[in-house]
Amino acid sequence: MRKPIIAGNHKMNLTWQETQDLLLCLKEKMPKQTDVEVIVCPPFTSLSAASMVTRECCIALGAQNMHQAEKGAFTGEISAQMLKASGCDWVILGHSERRHIFNEANTEINAKLKAAIKGGLKPILCVGETLAERQKGQTNAILQSQLEEGLAGIAESDLQQLVIAYEPVWAIGTGQTATPQNANAGCQFIRSLLTTCYGASFAEGTRILYGGSVKPHNIQALMSCSDIDGALVGGASLKCADFNALIRFNE
Ligand code: PGA
Repeated sequence: MRKPIIAGNHKMNLTWQETQDLLLCLKEKMPKQTDVEVIVCPPFTSLSAASMVTRECCIALGAQNMHQAEKGAFTGEISAQMLKASGCDWVILGHSERRHIFNEANTEINAKLKAAIKGGLKPILCVGETLAERQKGQTNAILQSQLEEGLAGIAESDLQQLVIAYEPVWAIGTGQTATPQNANAGCQFIRSLLTTCYGASFAEGTRILYGGSVKPHNIQALMSCSDIDGALVGGASLKCADFNALIRFNE
């Protein structure tokens, strides 16, 4: 069975003090024992403060991005080693805001993925189509190119910790959650691609999350779908009560 993941992406929100307050609230509220893997991804500046809370409870820490080089003259960038040292076990790569606002290409995301794995970080690779692409019937073609180019040249043995997030761009931050049927269809298609590339047992063991306006009122319907193994959550991860409700989706 694939262990469910509820991951919060704080994006460019909260100072380190505010992040710490949010996590202290969460630590207090969330179940002490849970079958859900909980991950929070605050901004870089909050990571150290966040790790002081997360290391004492069952919340794992992740970053929202990283640079592919180990070190050097890359002003403003952060390496895998720096993230590890700040308490991260996870890193989100290829988020749609990185792809569409910062023009990250599949080749760059592929280089980051390789560097993350080498640096001992578990990657959450995000893929998803824009509204225009969906309307033109290109959803599967986009998912296929993002996945195949993103994972190019990486051996199956290096992908044991890989998590994929299917995040339709039109559903992110818009309140327009994909229907459970559409969300599941995207995740199912991604799993079929994994089967083709790496075989059925790899595909069956890999966790695929849905992301895009996941809220306490729609989580249960999404999580009851056959191929949705969790959620990557933006807005609702910034509210202690909402994120706690998401973690408790199966109660
Ligand atoms: P949202 O963001 O939940 O605010 O739609 C999701 C994401 O960007 O991962």
